[in-house]
Amino acid sequence: MDIIRTIAEIKELRHRISGSIGFVPTMGFLHQGHLALVKKARAENFTVVVSIFVNPTQFGSGEALKAYPRDLNHDLKLLEIAEADIVFVPPDKEIYPHAFSSWVDVERLTEHLEGTSRPGYFKGVTTICAKLFNIVQPTRAYFGQKDAQQALVIKKMVADLNMNLEIITVSTVRENSGLAMSSRNTHLNPEERQAATILFKALTLAKQLRQSGEKDANKIREAMTSLIQKEPLAQIDYVSIADANDLGELEIVVHPSLASLAVRIGKIRLIDNMIL
Ligand code: PAJ
Repeated sequence: MDIIRTIAEIKELRHRISGSIGFVPTMGFLHQGHLALVKKARAENFTVVVSIFVNPTQFGSGEALKAYPRDLNHDLKLLEIAEADIVFVPPDKEIYPHAFSSWVDVERLTEHLEGTSRPGYFKGVTTICAKLFNIVQPTRAYFGQKDAQQALVIKKMVADLNMNLEIITVSTVRENSGLAMSSRNTHLNPEERQAATILFKALTLAKQLRQSGEKDANKIREAMTSLIQKEPLAQIDYVSIADANDLGELEIVVHPSLASLAVRIGKIRLIDNMIL
């Protein structure tokens, strides 16, 4: 496994690779969710490239950026076992040199859900992904359904800007409790970790209601909201039943609809979703 830190080196290496390249962009502190992406990339491509870069431009405050968990040595061990070929770990200055001033901004899809709660977030995500795609020039890039809106936004960017790669979405990996794996879970104490299962429970309730014939999106949102409100440690940011293609909020559920939510458990903001 090659560990590469500069753009010049990875570009040089890239030119020597023929055959398909599967690329998995991450911010590190890897868990089984990330590794599911690497596994799929491994199965579908000749060469697998993983990037580890905690992207400063997608964080609202310097504090959240500083608090982001990191463990590069452990990440590299996991990637070695997962048989990644190349790990790209650039320093901040390599990606954002002095006077960096070009941005990629996807409209509309980013005006819902996470885009409303975290202004500027998607501009940071789309810009870093566009840059990484230009640097790595992958055949396919792998994104988790855990961040459903992110995957949709990246697909839209690739289509709108005629980028020459395919975006593959991989199912959410969960713990036995239903809690979606996330680097942020590490900040939860045992009591909060238990409370955090309320996200999966609320999504499961939405799915059950839908399956039993409920079509009124408001009724589903209300049922999810009142279930979450029974959990004293949980504070709702949003509960959404939206069109899974354009993310517009629905009155009547359509096929496919996306149930998604952001909930604070103590100080930790968690997101999750399920296709209805
Ligand atoms: P990060 O949060 O590290 O996630 C990297 C990828 O892993 C994303 O595509 C995310 O959806 C996926 N992922 C995380 N948890 C998952 C789970 N439980 N099941 C399946 N997939 C999961 O998302 C980012 O980094 C950044 O925004 C990035 C795209 C790297 C741009 O900086």
